[in-house]
Amino acid sequence: MSLHVISVLVLSSCSSDRTTTIAPPITTATTTSAAPAPQRVARLGAAVSAERLAPAEPDAELVARHFDSVTPENAMKWSTTRPSATTWNWVGADAIVEFAERSGLDVRGHTLVWGQPSGNGMPAWLKETLNPADFTAAVLDGIDTQVTRYRGRVQRWDVVNEPFEALSGELQKNAFFERMGPDYIEQALRAARAADPDAELWINENATEYLPAKADALVELVRGLKGRGVPLDGVGLQTHLFLDAPLPAGAIADLIGGLRELGVDVALTEVDVPGGSANRDPTAQQALWKQVADECVAAGCVELTTWGVTDASTWLDSPTVRAGIPFLESFTVPTRPLLFDESGQAKPAFDIIEEALTRR
Ligand code: XIL
Repeated sequence: MSLHVISVLVLSSCSSDRTTTIAPPITTATTTSAAPAPQRVARLGAAVSAERLAPAEPDAELVARHFDSVTPENAMKWSTTRPSATTWNWVGADAIVEFAERSGLDVRGHTLVWGQPSGNGMPAWLKETLNPADFTAAVLDGIDTQVTRYRGRVQRWDVVNEPFEALSGELQKNAFFERMGPDYIEQALRAARAADPDAELWINENATEYLPAKADALVELVRGLKGRGVPLDGVGLQTHLFLDAPLPAGAIADLIGGLRELGVDVALTEVDVPGGSANRDPTAQQALWKQVADECVAAGCVELTTWGVTDASTWLDSPTVRAGIPFLESFTVPTRPLLFDESGQAKPAFDIIEEALTRR
């Protein structure tokens, strides 16, 4: 993700014409606690790793107890599941799906098609598959194999991740676009539907809350797909936030409302709020969590997933990720962007989120 110039963007304020429809109640997951879980109006999810869900690890109990859905942070990316064109590695993905089944949680499969040139979306062998026919066959076969394997066990898939350029509403001219053609999104969605007719199919995009032109382009993409009868059930807004990039009031609610009018569900799929450093007033961070959760619920989102569980293991504190996001270079301390602290204690932000998700 390259969001570094967002800090210098002049952000236009959004209209206050908000949708106030409340999403239908969603049954919360079975919890390990004796107390009945609160009835949430939208799922609370977390990105997880198989290692941190092992029985002795603290994330296992926290996730089973407090969340409704898990997203494998890396375990279902093809860089993990497809070490070569013909070999598969399901170790982490299987462990997460089994954990979710034991704990009564949904799984958001993440992700089948991600053309970001750097990073861990595509394995090297696929990047090097230059022939369009071979590339297309490998992609469609990969979607079929992975979705079929988890048919009935993964409730929804982020089929295509980040189809747009980081900072504009242009479709990214990535390897999928170049080798399969501009309709690669449609081809991928149709292949996923064929592999599991009952799984929800989603596309997922970043930074739309900060970039109005990109948000508009996302709406137009969805309008076109739905208009052509392409199978698409939901749109994920990643919502990686920055305290220093003001989030225009109503931006998230307006976008959710505009997308829902097209007949898709909408979720915030990767929320985190870096900034809880020692020298920073934590109330600013909490206010941003509240703004996001309130708008999500007011506009009828079906899910709010945080990108990680505790502050002990956020991607934003990894040196390689920090190096790729100059916006974070100034952080010399942990970013503390999540709802649980390093020792697994719920932070005030967790209560804010819970309050928003259970309000009627
Ligand atoms: C990130 C993981 O959190 C990191 O561990 C990994 O090194 C890189 O990918 N948008 C996405 C996620 O859709 O898949 C990314 O996950 C974060 C940005």
